[in-house]
Amino acid sequence: MRKEVPVAVIGLGLMGQALAGAFLRAGHPTTVWNRTAAKADPLVAEGAARAGSVAEAVAAGSLVVVCVTDYAALAGLRPLIGAVLGGKVLVNLTSGTSEEAREAAEWVDAVGAEYLVGAIMSMPQEIGTAESFILYSGPQAVFERYEAVLRALGDGVVHLGDDHGLSTLYAGAGVSLMWSLLNGFLHGAALLGAAGVDASAFVPFARQNIETAAGWLAGYARQVDDGVYPALDATIESHAAAMGMLVHESEVAGVNASLPRFVKDLADRAIAEGHGGNGYAAMVEVFRKPRV
Ligand SMILES: NC(=O)c1ccc[n+]([C@@H]2O[C@H](COP(=O)([O-])OP(=O)(O)OC[C@H]3O[C@@H](n4cnc5c(N)ncnc54)[C@H](OP(=O)(O)O)[C@@H]3O)[C@@H](O)[C@H]2O)c1
Repeated sequence: MRKEVPVAVIGLGLMGQALAGAFLRAGHPTTVWNRTAAKADPLVAEGAARAGSVAEAVAAGSLVVVCVTDYAALAGLRPLIGAVLGGKVLVNLTSGTSEEAREAAEWVDAVGAEYLVGAIMSMPQEIGTAESFILYSGPQAVFERYEAVLRALGDGVVHLGDDHGLSTLYAGAGVSLMWSLLNGFLHGAALLGAAGVDASAFVPFARQNIETAAGWLAGYARQVDDGVYPALDATIESHAAAMGMLVHESEVAGVNASLPRFVKDLADRAIAEGHGGNGYAAMVEVFRKPRV
């Protein structure tokens, strides 16, 4: 792949402007289009070409990057993009679900183009810097062909597989982990706060707990992949007893007990399904089923 590749960026909101600016600064001839045309002005001043229409922008790029609010916004642009997309590569950095990503892949295939889906894990000001991190999915060969160009957005790129839905699913798994972690920290801060302890005093202990739990992940993952959950340390029954105590502590302290109660409910279901004597990783069996 030669160094400079014509890029079209469609959608110049906060993120689209950052993406187009990074392609420009990396030396790629960049054509931009936005529904509200004035948002292109700063980029045009930096050297971007202004397209008068979506079709004109798509026609100018080998790599066509779309970053609009959501897939509903993209749906309105599809006929205009699809008419001239044949033979090009579309990189969709619009947030959506894996279902939307896969459905759009069928549309791109039908118009004779190739398709990558990206999940941006960074803020606009981080794009093009060492802090940028973007997950991609879609055909490996297409990713490899354009990887050097995509690195204009930052070296933090990872390709997760051919299935177009995977970048979105990894992003979802990541935020699920983060929300659980943050909720645990904030519930703990509320519990300690009721005893007059500052949240700041909790931080070193919380960090130590996070590091300890992080050290367990690889072993848990092996058990999940193998489908056998020997209790190497504590059984789910022991965990459930400790969860019951935390529910009680929270209620006595007058803080919200919903989080430990929810966690205990999960453990109780695992026990009801026969996993009481297994290790904690067996809880995955509860997460594998929709709630009935
Ligand atoms: N900002 C972030 O920190 C961040 C981080 C990760 C991912 N993302 C994702 O990046 C995407 C864009 O986010 P953003 O922050 O750039 O949002 P934004 O500033 O609100 O910009 C939205 C963009 O979508 C365009 N748009 C909306 N509806 C449209 C329609 N019907 N037809 C044509 N264009 C339409 C807007 O055009 P107008 O200018 O004409 O309104 C604008 O260019 C979202 O999917 C977001 O989840 C953003």
